[in-house]
Amino acid sequence: MTYLDHAATTPLRPAARAAWLEASAEVGNASALHGAGRRARAIVEEARERLAAALGAHPTEVIWTSGGTEADNLAIKGHFWQRRGADAARTRVVTTSVEHHAGLDPVRWLAAAEGATAVELPVDRTGVLRLDALERELAEHAGQIALASVMWANNEVGALQPVAQVAALAAAHGIPVHSDAVQAVGHVAVDFAASGLTSLALSAHKVGGPVGVGALLLARRARLTPLTHGGGQERSVRSGTLDPAGAIAAAVAVEAAVAERAAEEARLGALRDRLVALIDADIPQAWVSGPAAAGAHLPGIVHLIVPGAPGEALLYVLDSHGVEVSNGSACVAGVVQASHVVEAMGYSHADASSTLRISMGHTTTDADVDALMAVLPDAVDRALRVRAR
Ligand SMILES: Cc1ncc(COP(=O)(O)O)c(C=O)c1O
Repeated sequence: MTYLDHAATTPLRPAARAAWLEASAEVGNASALHGAGRRARAIVEEARERLAAALGAHPTEVIWTSGGTEADNLAIKGHFWQRRGADAARTRVVTTSVEHHAGLDPVRWLAAAEGATAVELPVDRTGVLRLDALERELAEHAGQIALASVMWANNEVGALQPVAQVAALAAAHGIPVHSDAVQAVGHVAVDFAASGLTSLALSAHKVGGPVGVGALLLARRARLTPLTHGGGQERSVRSGTLDPAGAIAAAVAVEAAVAERAAEEARLGALRDRLVALIDADIPQAWVSGPAAAGAHLPGIVHLIVPGAPGEALLYVLDSHGVEVSNGSACVAGVVQASHVVEAMGYSHADASSTLRISMGHTTTDADVDALMAVLPDAVDRALRVRAR
């Protein structure tokens, strides 16, 4: 099997599995006062400290969640309700047109259900936010903006977003900025304190941790309206019994990914360069999309548009050869939906359903690139014939 879908989820790191198994043998509820409870609490707090240290945050800034989706929802709805509660004029939620649905749909839901105005800022042809559009929005509406939410790295085309500039521009108006850094953590340098962000979402299963655990890093000064009410855990922002095993496994995975990041960035960058050169030479029908410059995209993602080739056909042919990749966008009943990201970049609806995302990670080697390239040219030919029929 050739697994090239690391942006969807990554193989569990043995160290994260070992940490999970050890912690899962403990019985206590981390909120209980007896010895078992204190042991469970100690695991959670060790995990909190290690996660915070790996990402330039203070331990009290870590809010454990069930993953990236929950962290995004908590930040976007929580900031909105907090800020609009304090000032009824603040109804605008500024985001980009290329967010993951975990970031985009909460904004659209606030517009549909809570009277918010959703502002989806445009991106350029490579998927990078147009800062001039943000500047215009701030110049015209700063007093009505509740928050801005801009992802750090795009999960489909790999474009890195100018989050530091966004944070600086918004800070001049006292506007909180949230960033979905689910694809960035462990792949590019992420320092929460230096970022100027108010909050940041991350997910363990994207860096070799278990599915179902993640965190929101929330600046100490920031206040959020909670989504869940109950036992008052996690600064009363996220009630619910804590998960010591998930937390320590997440911390171990993030720590390992961050420790290996610089070396991995270079290693994956070289694999990516080789793959892109092979695609350019062997598959002239395919366009590599997203920013071209190293340092402007995630090291491990290669995103292709193959005009005229149905995305699901590409996927099925590759899968039949044991090569597992993705289209990057959602799939409904076996048919790939046009990618809102690719459309936002200015491509046609048809091109936005003719995509392939190859995403590499900590277990990927040259042999995986070779296995993919042994079948990709033929898969493209066959997918193009499907459309021609
Ligand atoms: C950019 C981005 N945000 C959020 C998520 C959702 O994270 P989780 O699967 O932990 O809910 C993903 C996962 O695909 C993602 O790529």
